Amino acid sequence: MTIGIGLLGLGTVGAGVASILASPEGRHPLVAALRLQRVAVRDLNRSRPTSPPAELLTTDPEAVVDDPGVDIVVEVMGGLEPARTLILRAIAAGKPVVTANKAVIARHGEEIAAAAAAQGVYVLIEAAVGGGIPIIEPLKQSLGSNRIQRVSGIINGTTNYILSRMAAEGAAYADVLADAQRLGYAEADPAADVQGGDAADKIAILTRLAYGGTVPRGAIPTEGIDQLEARDVAYAARLGFVVKLLAVAQLMEAEGEHASSDHPLLDVRVHPTLVPSTHPLAGVNGVNNAILVEGDPVGQVMFYGPGAGAGPTASAVVADILNIAGIRQATGGSGGSLDPLLAAGSWRTCSLVEGSLTTHRNYVRLRTRDEAGVIGKIGTCFGEAGVSIQSIVQFAAQDQDGGDADAEIVVITHEVLEANFRRALARIEALPEVESVAACLRTL
Ligand code: HSE
Repeated sequence: MTIGIGLLGLGTVGAGVASILASPEGRHPLVAALRLQRVAVRDLNRSRPTSPPAELLTTDPEAVVDDPGVDIVVEVMGGLEPARTLILRAIAAGKPVVTANKAVIARHGEEIAAAAAAQGVYVLIEAAVGGGIPIIEPLKQSLGSNRIQRVSGIINGTTNYILSRMAAEGAAYADVLADAQRLGYAEADPAADVQGGDAADKIAILTRLAYGGTVPRGAIPTEGIDQLEARDVAYAARLGFVVKLLAVAQLMEAEGEHASSDHPLLDVRVHPTLVPSTHPLAGVNGVNNAILVEGDPVGQVMFYGPGAGAGPTASAVVADILNIAGIRQATGGSGGSLDPLLAAGSWRTCSLVEGSLTTHRNYVRLRTRDEAGVIGKIGTCFGEAGVSIQSIVQFAAQDQDGGDADAEIVVITHEVLEANFRRALARIEALPEVESVAACLRTL
C-alpha cells in the first residue's frame, strides 16, 4: 500500500522532506511506501533542484489538500494564513496533517486539536519545536508517566548563535546580528527571533504537552536579546555565568484557591538569563538547541541537537509522517480510533501565575556615583524589601557612556519574590547617587 503525501511549501524544510522521500534506500522500509503526490509552491518558475518533478507542482494549495491521491497533508509553508485554513481544510476532509508551523500551533492549537479530535485524525508537530531534536513525542509518550516540574530550554538557534558570538568575541549585539544576517544565520527581518516571539511560540507548545493544558500565547511574558549589552555578557562571564535566551515553563507550588492538580498554576516566560557556566544548558552554543525536562520520578533529561535547517527539520517531519503511515498500514488504511498519547489532547486547565508572585534570582547593573555609603544605601533598599543579596561587585564606569556615573555596581540576588525585587528597584532608582538601573536580567 502506498501513501500519498501532499506537500504545502517547498522552501528549506519542504525541499528537505522531498529529498528524504526521493531517496528511501537505507531508511526504514515504510519510507519507500510514501509517494509524493502533489506539491504547492508560490512560484512555478523559480529555479529549483530536479526533485520533486515539475509535474507535481502547483500554485494552488487547496488543490493539494483536496487531491484524492493525497492521504497525508504536510504543511511546511509557515505563517499564520493560509496555513491555518489549509490545516483545517485537510482535517475537515478527514486527512491527517503533519506541520512544522509553531506560530499556527501556538496560537490556534486548541482550535486545530478540537477539529482533529472531532474528525478522528492526527495532527503531528514534532518539527515545530527544536528542529531535528525529538522533544514533542518524548513529552507525549516516553515521559508520560511523570509529573513535570519544569521544562527549560534554548529553543531559538538564531539568538543562541548571536549570544555565543557575543560571549566569545566580546562583540556588540548589533554587529553580530548584522554579520549573522550576512552569513544566513539570521533572517533579513529578525524580529520574531531576537524579540523572543519564536521561543514564546515554542514554549507555549511544550507547555501544553508537558502540563496537559493550554496557556494563552499572548500572555507569556517575553523579552528578547535585542536590548542586551555586550558589557552585561562580559560581566556575567566574570561572575561565572553565560547569558542564554531561555524559555521556561515551571509548575508553581499549589497555592491559592485556583491551584490544584486539576488546575495547575504555571510560570511560563522567555527572557535572557544568566546561566551558571557549570549548568548543562551553558555549554549549548551556536545554532544548537537544548531542552531540559525535569520530572518526577525521572529527574533531569536533556535533549540536545540541531534546532533548525533543512535536514534536521525534515527528519522530524518525516518521522511524523511515518508514525501516521505506520498506523494506516497496521489498520489496513482505516487509521482506527485515535491513540490518546499520539493525539495528545488537553486534559486539564492550566493558568499562568501573576508575575509579581513568581520568584527568581536576578542580575542588576546600576550606574552610580562612586562615593562613601552608596553600596550601603543600595543594600538597605534591597534588605528592607526582603531581597537577599548573593553578591555585589563594583566596576569602573566607562567614559564613553556619558552621564555622571563613575561606577557600575552589579548585584546578584538570591531567589526572591518578584514583587519585593521590583519594590527594591523602585527605591534604588530614586536614590540621588544612582543614575540608572542600566540592566536587569534573570539568573538561574
Ligand atoms: N528561527 C528559528 C530559530 C528556526 O532560529 O531557531 C527554527 O524554528
